[in-house]
Amino acid sequence: MAHYGNYQTEIYIAGLSGRLPKLPVNFRDIEARAHAAMPPELGDYVAGGCGNEHTQDINVTAFERWGVIPRMFVGADKRDMSIELFGLPLPTPIFMSPIGVIGLCAQDGHGEIAAARAARHLGIPMMASTLSVDPLEKVASELGDTPGFFQLYTPVDRGVAESLVHRAETAGFKGIVVTLDTWITGWRPRDLNRANFPQFHGHILSNYFSDPVFRSSLPKSPEEDLPAAVQRWGSIFGNPLKWDDLTWLRSLTKLPLIVKGICHPDDARRAIDMGVDGIFCSNHGGRQANGGLAAIDLLPGIVDASGKTPVLFDSGVRSGTDVIKALALGATAVGIGRPYAYGLALDGVDGIVHVLRSILAEADLLMAVDGYPRLADLTRSSLMATR
Ligand code: FNR
Repeated sequence: MAHYGNYQTEIYIAGLSGRLPKLPVNFRDIEARAHAAMPPELGDYVAGGCGNEHTQDINVTAFERWGVIPRMFVGADKRDMSIELFGLPLPTPIFMSPIGVIGLCAQDGHGEIAAARAARHLGIPMMASTLSVDPLEKVASELGDTPGFFQLYTPVDRGVAESLVHRAETAGFKGIVVTLDTWITGWRPRDLNRANFPQFHGHILSNYFSDPVFRSSLPKSPEEDLPAAVQRWGSIFGNPLKWDDLTWLRSLTKLPLIVKGICHPDDARRAIDMGVDGIFCSNHGGRQANGGLAAIDLLPGIVDASGKTPVLFDSGVRSGTDVIKALALGATAVGIGRPYAYGLALDGVDGIVHVLRSILAEADLLMAVDGYPRLADLTRSSLMATR
């Protein structure tokens, strides 16, 4: 079995002929390089969060409050990072979280296509956001055999919501991820100080502008009257969903239904009782509310409440070590967010592939060195609180 840790051997061997990795392998340096390369308003849009950004900062630092306990005499020369998720066999426990402006992060302005190609190359699932430069059908067509998930921002107009879900099903996505925490935009000082909101410029709205139900609600097409189309979009974008709406959402699809943004055990239990297939514990990377709790600290409660239902997790994952800690705390699969956006901004498909391979290499080597050859070996007792 190929081990992801072998990426380091590739790097060291290339070094013998004087070739250095094109991009750094660690998040901090990639982030700094990306910020130097990206238009400032886009860099701020990706990096920024809510309020004074305390929540997004502790999402990251909270991982440091956990340490992985090394075990010896395990002989972990063979490791297995594969998982099964909603019946899909996957080579690794990571996936690409949905990022609405991922399209704009690519130098050619088609970042969803690049992300889908990276997903196809690595077999790592991509979650495609509703907010997209390219329509979902085009994104899906680039995924090859790699499963993709469609992330739904549920419009107030139920007809448009239903149309998006049915299009995603027809396009071959393997699950619908309904994001619950973003029916309204959180208070984001970096974007406010620049008065920067990409959607108001008509960017990343192709899933709406290509939608027959959305188009039929406009007196003129988006091509003829962009401001009116944007205004209509603004009026239907955010649906402040209530529990009753979950019954309707569940009825829309036979695909696995995953709810993103669940942070309270009672919400997890109730959503499972109402028929969802997956719980996605996330605080949107601290972009939506500066509530002051790190997502990783909420994960164990969600896992306990979710029983056998898979729990996906993201928010603050920056390294392979973070992935391992989230898995040990009970996540079934772990989402990578900002790191792959920066990889994309720097080097397109290759940049995403490099970022994900670096994360996987570190995770694999941690499993090797610390003696956890299988993901099932990672449990809460593999961790110790550092303070
Ligand atoms: C996001 N996220 C997000 N989530 C979602 O459900 N739909 C979306 O369109 C977006 N868009 C988006 C844009 C940008 C620029 C970022 C950084 C994030 C949230 C994303 O899926 C994930 O929850 C966070 O990125 C996790 O936090 P970290 O690990 O990236 O800090």
